[in-house]
Amino acid sequence: MGRYFVCGASGNLGGKIIETLLTLVPADQVAVGSSNLTKIEPKKLNKWLKSGVKAYYTDFNDYESMTRSFKDAEAEVVCIISTWDFGEKRRKQYKDCIQAAKESGVKRLHYTSVMGAEVEENTPQVQADHRDAEESVKASGLEWTLQRNNLYINNTLKWYAPASQRVGDVWVSNCYEKKCSFVSRDDCGIVGGYLVAGKGELYRTYVCAGPELISEYDIYTEINKVTGWECKFVNRTKEELYKYYEMIGTPRELTPQMSKSLLPLCGLDLAENADCINRGFLSYLSNDIEELTGKKPESVRELVARSTDIIPKPYED
Ligand SMILES: NC(=O)c1ccc[n+]([C@@H]2O[C@H](COP(=O)([O-])OP(=O)(O)OC[C@H]3O[C@@H](n4cnc5c(N)ncnc54)[C@H](OP(=O)(O)O)[C@@H]3O)[C@@H](O)[C@H]2O)c1
Repeated sequence: MGRYFVCGASGNLGGKIIETLLTLVPADQVAVGSSNLTKIEPKKLNKWLKSGVKAYYTDFNDYESMTRSFKDAEAEVVCIISTWDFGEKRRKQYKDCIQAAKESGVKRLHYTSVMGAEVEENTPQVQADHRDAEESVKASGLEWTLQRNNLYINNTLKWYAPASQRVGDVWVSNCYEKKCSFVSRDDCGIVGGYLVAGKGELYRTYVCAGPELISEYDIYTEINKVTGWECKFVNRTKEELYKYYEMIGTPRELTPQMSKSLLPLCGLDLAENADCINRGFLSYLSNDIEELTGKKPESVRELVARSTDIIPKPYED
């Protein structure tokens, strides 16, 4: 029986939520859904299945797949992880998933939102989409919890720094000196696992923030300290930022051609993240991670130290 159903099982965040959940509840009470089960590492999926976890094809763009899997798993709790789609498409995905959960007898929802979703005026698209999803969750009539994740430190380590190395060791930004409570994605996954397991308070929004206010520049400086690689920082206007993103093959809007880009994000997403930092939407701290899990959030120093396999090193002559 799958009392706990986590959608988005192939993703980084989804995987960490499931891994954490499995330390808190019996495996035969866990079910996972993915719009593409082949994207889950086979070893990981087999381990889950062997321990009693059920796995389903569950696609937010396919209503039937959601009702079929939630009903078959007898899901009582459904975790909804945001997708990369922007605007109307993802707003519909969440609404359909919530409706499918209601139709299938689900009692509680957990949704992974983003910091800044609470700011109502002139919010960038990403935050506005998440606010819309949060409102749909709250209006569902089901029990709920929310978590608002700040920007992952992992984005800089995995994508931005390697991309800037490939275009001449330059990162162009319009916010590099502005501070933000960047967070480790794994910590967000751990929080998700605890909240799906019912370890949090109902009707509460948990804020996932790192332990310190730091800038993009500070993250690059930490990488530099560890590997000796050096990156130049250039501050530019938003329009100039879009030109830089285009130079590294990152289109302004999401397109099916994203695979050609050095970064999987579109320019709009990147620029809006910077905008949010500049406007202070992402610049506050929170004790929620430690209060909920007993674990101190990971610092940039700690995350960089365990990411030396992916962060840039100086070229050797
Ligand atoms: N805070 C930040 O800095 C930041 C940065 C980047 C992204 N995000 C957001 O955080 C989410 C999780 O991050 P991540 O690193 O885990 O991303 P990821 O590894 O790229 O995973 C993408 C997620 O979207 C899900 N998804 C895609 N299409 C779907 C569909 N049709 N139906 C249901 N689920 C679908 C995937 O699940 P399946 O493929 O298993 O269906 C997976 O959980 C992202 O999806 C994005 O919304 C946040």
